[in-house]
Amino acid sequence: MVIQKICCLGAGYVGGPTCSVIALKCPNIKVTVCDKSVERINQWNSDKLPIYEPGLDDVVKQCRGRNLFFSTDIETSIVEADLIFISVNTPTKTIGNGKGRAADLKYIEGAARMIADIATSNKIVVEKSTVPVKAAEIIMKILRANTKPGVEYQILSNPEFLAEGTAIVDLVEAERVLIGGEDTPEGQKAVQALCWVYEHWIPAKNILTTNTWSSELSKLAANAFLAQRISSINSLSAVCEATGADVSEVARAVGRDSRIGPKFLEASIGFGGSCFQKDILNLIYLSECLNLPEVAAYWQQVVNLNDYQKTRFTRKVIESLFNTVADKKIAVLGFSFKKNTGDTRESPAIYVSTTLLDEGAKLHIYDPKVEHDQIYYELLHPQVTNEPELVRKNIEIHDSAYSAVSGAHAIVLCTEWDEFKSLDYKKIYEVMMKPAYIFDGRKILDHEALLNIGFHVQTIGKRLSRTSSIRAQGSQTMP
Ligand code: NAD
Ligand code: UDX
Repeated sequence: MVIQKICCLGAGYVGGPTCSVIALKCPNIKVTVCDKSVERINQWNSDKLPIYEPGLDDVVKQCRGRNLFFSTDIETSIVEADLIFISVNTPTKTIGNGKGRAADLKYIEGAARMIADIATSNKIVVEKSTVPVKAAEIIMKILRANTKPGVEYQILSNPEFLAEGTAIVDLVEAERVLIGGEDTPEGQKAVQALCWVYEHWIPAKNILTTNTWSSELSKLAANAFLAQRISSINSLSAVCEATGADVSEVARAVGRDSRIGPKFLEASIGFGGSCFQKDILNLIYLSECLNLPEVAAYWQQVVNLNDYQKTRFTRKVIESLFNTVADKKIAVLGFSFKKNTGDTRESPAIYVSTTLLDEGAKLHIYDPKVEHDQIYYELLHPQVTNEPELVRKNIEIHDSAYSAVSGAHAIVLCTEWDEFKSLDYKKIYEVMMKPAYIFDGRKILDHEALLNIGFHVQTIGKRLSRTSSIRAQGSQTMP
């Protein structure tokens, strides 16, 4: 079967970039990305796309209106598509059974019901969203129970491995594409049809095919492994701070072992983003449901350690500022969960900010790409505060780092944006209250230089003090 038309349900961080790259690489395929949200689709059709992702504007400009379309006309797109990606959100459940851990599959179910209602010809339905193992069975049950005569479905699992901030490169140069399908002749035909789409630009050796359940589980496993590395190095960062070891040196030494490898060993304020915590919780819930409590407890510790890291860092900020931040002006630099994205979902900056606000601090926040409204949304959310007006009064959002730091007692760096490395810290020191503090939650600044300027500096996984700075200077000048 040759795929001529693709429909994608969900025009978010995954559906938008993924389908834009498919359209770029497969000019012979018409790709329509649909969403229930009119606002989101309007943004995709405008000059200001709804998400910031390096390289995305360029890809969309090349393809939009040619073979890439963004539409709210879900019905027409489903009817004409040979293959439908389900790329809707799968957040953690906030109510009911499995609350706080299980993935909420209501949007997946909604998408499956839409397809069943609308489709009048055979479809390959592809789970692109991250789902618990056996979710394909739920989709199949819904489709088969509601199918129209003569319409047949094949369900494939094709999880997405892109990371935000590098999505376009990750998609164009994917290390692997994973496709799971049923071990039947029809299932394998569907797998081959999707392989053909990716083979337009991905070498065949990088396309892995598995059974459906392996594919679904591999996605949860990959995110759990990645997050586990961060929690491992973050746990050691606490040991470093207590002993005088330097976590960057430890990571470099450990990562030199080719069995371990150097990537994803950057100690930090804690991991954020919409995926890691959600997907590990999903794995934990799955393990509990399978009566595997030891497995659940093992992965739970990765999340617990991440919470510990965020708390540990924030406590250090408060304790260093004489154990009170009430009415103190604190500049928060960076609000997104990592650099090169405007996404704030599960950003550690939210935890840091809400804790400081609870202690009475006045926050002056600057992020190069996060919209002001988004910062207000995160900090005024009913789950975060029951005093939104008070919080609003204590936040000021800035358009530059320099205006955020003016008159501040402390700078708390939450995101590793490159521009923070090259700020003029001498100039900043002059306009801050004294003693002036910097808390570098990402280990990106030149700490010796900051100490020499006169700052009090704290970071992750390394003890810093003026004396160490003087010693370092001295040793440099020794013959
Ligand atoms: P998102 O919230 O940015 O986008 C999901 C979109 O789906 C929303 O715009 C929503 O309006 C839309 N939607 C919901 N139900 C719909 C329906 N029935 N029809 C049409 N549109 C519908 O989410 P996201 O970040 O793109 O993530 C989507 C999935 O991909 C999740 O399962 C996530 O775990 C997974 N994933 C995300 C990333 C990432 O970096 N964000 C990476 C890999 C996998
Ligand atoms: C992640 C996975 O990397 C990706 O494969 C999957 O498809 C979706 O989830 P994402 O969350 O977009 O991607 O970004 P990622 O680069 O993994 O970073 C996640 C968080 O971990 C960020 O807060 C980041 O700052 C933090 N991190 C990452 C560290 O603290 N240390 C590291 O060494 C790496």
